[in-house]
Amino acid sequence: MKVACLTGGGDCPGLNAVIRGLVRTIANSGGETIGLLEGWRGAIEGNFIPLDPMKTDEILPQGGTILGSSRTNPYKDENLVKQVVDTFHKLELDALVAIGGDDTLGVASKLYSDYKLPTIGCPKTIDNDLSATDFTFGFDTCLNTVMDAVDKLRTTAESHRRVIVVEVMGRHAGWITCFSGIACSADAILVPEEEADLDAVCERLKRRRADGKMYGIVMVSEGAELKGQNLITKDAEIDDFGHVKLGGIGARVAKIIQKNTGIETRDVTLGHLQRGGSPSAYDRVLGTRLGIHAARLAIKKDFGKMVALRGLHIVSVPLAEAVGTMRTLYPEFMDEAGEFLK
Ligand code: F6P
Repeated sequence: MKVACLTGGGDCPGLNAVIRGLVRTIANSGGETIGLLEGWRGAIEGNFIPLDPMKTDEILPQGGTILGSSRTNPYKDENLVKQVVDTFHKLELDALVAIGGDDTLGVASKLYSDYKLPTIGCPKTIDNDLSATDFTFGFDTCLNTVMDAVDKLRTTAESHRRVIVVEVMGRHAGWITCFSGIACSADAILVPEEEADLDAVCERLKRRRADGKMYGIVMVSEGAELKGQNLITKDAEIDDFGHVKLGGIGARVAKIIQKNTGIETRDVTLGHLQRGGSPSAYDRVLGTRLGIHAARLAIKKDFGKMVALRGLHIVSVPLAEAVGTMRTLYPEFMDEAGEFLK
């Protein structure tokens, strides 16, 4: 059988582990795999590279994706969708494995329902906001990157008796912020799921200082909201899937904290650092397992499905059920974090 794979949306550590697991499993069954380049753009334009177990064996520790990625959405124009279908037939493919977040998987799901294209999905994102899987690979590496950065920021914050506000990614879900906030013993964790109460944060920072803690770390989600402030400007950049480019809240929060507490405050936006680097052991293993199971679905011709982690097991779920609902942070995590945020 001939299987194509592609990686779409924001990259993350562990994508190459999936590709390697997929290629090896397909080859073990006597099939071949090709990689479409730069997400759905490669599927539209028919750009690909052949992949084999030898070529992909060394890619496991590499961050990013050897296939390149983009936020191209073929459904922006029905002609582009037809080009994807044409590419599928021209390349004589038997299956197409899309590795991506909600947008990329949404396209795979529609191609399956609209054109009966034999697609399979594999969930990825540092944001950990996909509803049908317990964890996405990339998230763990991202948390370790944030933790490493905050551990460094803490020493300078302490030396200068400052507050440092750290803005992290995650779009409209607070997984990265809450988990890294717990891992870094932050003094405040501001997530999109809860309206930020900056008065309470300022009071806490002042009280902790009076008690002897002379610095502070405030974690804030790029998608968090401040009471009465619309942070999204009219001319904000929008991507192919209609998502607005987020960023900038950390600087605002820092200004407010400095003004209201009188404590010197700085802000740092970790930005795309969070998506880079070599995958953690957890992400290498999870990515590998998902790649193997995506290949097995292709071999069984079980299409229109997404592989997912449930507990310790890799299962498959209908793509149509797996996309379209963002999974926000479960309140229990903020409740637990709250023991240290009083
Ligand atoms: O979805 C992953 C993510 O890193 C988000 O956390 C972030 O908002 C977005 O992608 C950034 O996208 P881009 O790389 O297109 O700026």
